[in-house]
Amino acid sequence: MQPRKILITSALPYANGPIHIGHMVEYIQTDIWARFQRLRGNECHYVCADDTHGTPIMLRAQQEGITPEQLIARSSEEHQRDFAGFNVAFDNYYTTHSDENRHFAEFIYKAAREKGHIEKRTIRQAYDAQAQMFLPDRFIKGECPRCGAADQYGDNCEACGATYSPTDLKNAVSAISGTKPIEKETEHYFFKLGHFEAFLREFLASGAVQKEIANKQMEWFESDQGLSDWDVSRDAPYWGFKIPDTDDKYFYVWLDAPIGYLASFKNLCERTGLDFDAYWKPDSTAEVHHFIGKDIAYFHTLFWPALLHGADFRTPTAVHCHGFLTVNGAKMSKSRGTFIQAESYLKHLNPEWLRYYFASKLSSGVDDIDLNLEDFIARVNSDLVGKVVNIASRCAGFINKRFANTLSATLPDPALYQAFSDASEHIAELYENRRYNQAMREIMALADKANQYVDEQKPWVLAKDPERLADVQTVCTQGINMFRAIVTYLKPVLPQLAADTESFLNAGELNWNSAKKPLLNHEIGTFKALMTRVESIMVEAMLEDNRQAMPAPAAAPTITGALADAPISPMIEYDDFAKIDLRIAKIVKAEHVNGADKLVQLTLDLGGETRNVFAGIKSAYDPTDLEGRLTVMVANLAPRKMRFGMSEGMVLAAGPGGSDLFILTPDNGAEPGMRVK
Ligand code: MSP
Ligand code: ZN
Repeated sequence: MQPRKILITSALPYANGPIHIGHMVEYIQTDIWARFQRLRGNECHYVCADDTHGTPIMLRAQQEGITPEQLIARSSEEHQRDFAGFNVAFDNYYTTHSDENRHFAEFIYKAAREKGHIEKRTIRQAYDAQAQMFLPDRFIKGECPRCGAADQYGDNCEACGATYSPTDLKNAVSAISGTKPIEKETEHYFFKLGHFEAFLREFLASGAVQKEIANKQMEWFESDQGLSDWDVSRDAPYWGFKIPDTDDKYFYVWLDAPIGYLASFKNLCERTGLDFDAYWKPDSTAEVHHFIGKDIAYFHTLFWPALLHGADFRTPTAVHCHGFLTVNGAKMSKSRGTFIQAESYLKHLNPEWLRYYFASKLSSGVDDIDLNLEDFIARVNSDLVGKVVNIASRCAGFINKRFANTLSATLPDPALYQAFSDASEHIAELYENRRYNQAMREIMALADKANQYVDEQKPWVLAKDPERLADVQTVCTQGINMFRAIVTYLKPVLPQLAADTESFLNAGELNWNSAKKPLLNHEIGTFKALMTRVESIMVEAMLEDNRQAMPAPAAAPTITGALADAPISPMIEYDDFAKIDLRIAKIVKAEHVNGADKLVQLTLDLGGETRNVFAGIKSAYDPTDLEGRLTVMVANLAPRKMRFGMSEGMVLAAGPGGSDLFILTPDNGAEPGMRVK
């Protein structure tokens, strides 16, 4: 069979934040697939880049007092350091802020424009006259038009779940300058996604996208307006590429981000002489595989194929979506200390442990996967140390010490070895279809078999009987060969273990076919411990370090990072403040609210009186973690009717938002009902 030509990508991480272990699900999943393809002898190129444009990056650089160029240069270095630490082997890691990317963004835009897929329209948008910029939705805050909750951002209310246009917010202010936004007309450029409906229906039905994702995208076709136009322009000031033939319009970051895949690959081609067109012409026989998280499926399964198609590029062979990582059963959270940065992990733990753990959990579906830290320790120790490495450590010593490092000329149980070699195609199929969890199970079943063999043959007993000495050599040769087959199958997941095994076996690099023939009559190297156990103390040290590394949450009780800079509200008199009756409340019950993403329904004990309160803290707390805790509430807030029922008060919380929101929890000695002074 001809080797396949395969281009592989992972999503491009944003340049304004560090890599965390949630990201690593994707880069490890992709890297395993790329390594597997290389091991099979396919021609495979794995490219990625930093996603460097957009308002958040512009504002972040401003806040830090550096240029966007400096910010993205620093992120690029940090990201690449972390990926290398996890043995993610990109063939090219580039940036969307590159000449290649500007070229392709302009090219694709112009092609769409020439074919009539771009429309210019005047829209009205919120404008910050002081900062002199148009405001993206998430940079406007105000009171919810429905329930009146203060400090709501963008187009939905964290308190009552209402959705609205940000211009409907009451007493709206710009989160950048704190001034009242005005509405201003501006001309925007829209990509007519609806023109591609027939093409997209076919693409989604072609098998290039997992069923559950394809079905979800199809729902857009059936919605009232059908596929909406996509606003691909942003007004200056913006950090990105200027749109051709305009003075002050820029490409929206999500237009040039996926184009970064083309740019990174083009850059690789320029460096290595690869033929770009062989991969991107419409009739190309090469394959293009994108790996992404389910949160960005919309961009990759609708806009991206349409943009490519509109510019006469081929469309992706497949877009592979994965689910989200949770830690100990809950969303990663800074307050719980489970927002684990790649850097913190790498300081304390072996990257191959996480690679194996994710592999043992990853399927071809989009279900979320959980990193349970206790299970992580148990799984790694039992599978990798207790099963896999154990086979070699039980056999190698005898070969090293008693037989001058030499393996026997024959195997005592060729049929058993054959079973190891025969497993190869089935395991390959599991890797190919991204059923890594099943592949790991198959491989561990082989490891069990190998250990069982050694248990039964007991080379350590045979070694005591001078007449059975030859059997010690053959039994251990059998063991080492079974170990070698297992490491071959694990090589995409555990490149370091494989490299160490290769030098121990002293017979060159393992490839997918290595297990077909056993290693016989061969001189191996001296065995050294191939992997150590994970100790819980290491995991604890890692978590502690990670907590230290977390930037302190911004003081203002506001929602997103940049917004923490919002100025203080107008002064109030002491009398106004004194009207607020703050009380200690005990959370006696906390429940999910059906149909509300952000709300938790709390039953609060005020020392004799109970209150029902809806609190927008679900992004940070699992309801079950809240029960039994004390908090502080505004006890004399007039009850307010919400979509889900009456809310009788408000719980106080602070933090930058998202998973970083902390309910106030008073010290020991507080009793429900006590007044807070
Ligand atoms: N910049 C965009 C992608 C542009 S691709 C043309 C972006 N960046 S990201 O940094 O937020 O995420 C990068 C990838 O990591 C995405 O595929 C995202 O789904 C994935 N993950 C981020 N957090 C994750 C988890 N907690 N769990 C699993 N994957 C996660 O989106
Ligand atoms: Zn509301």
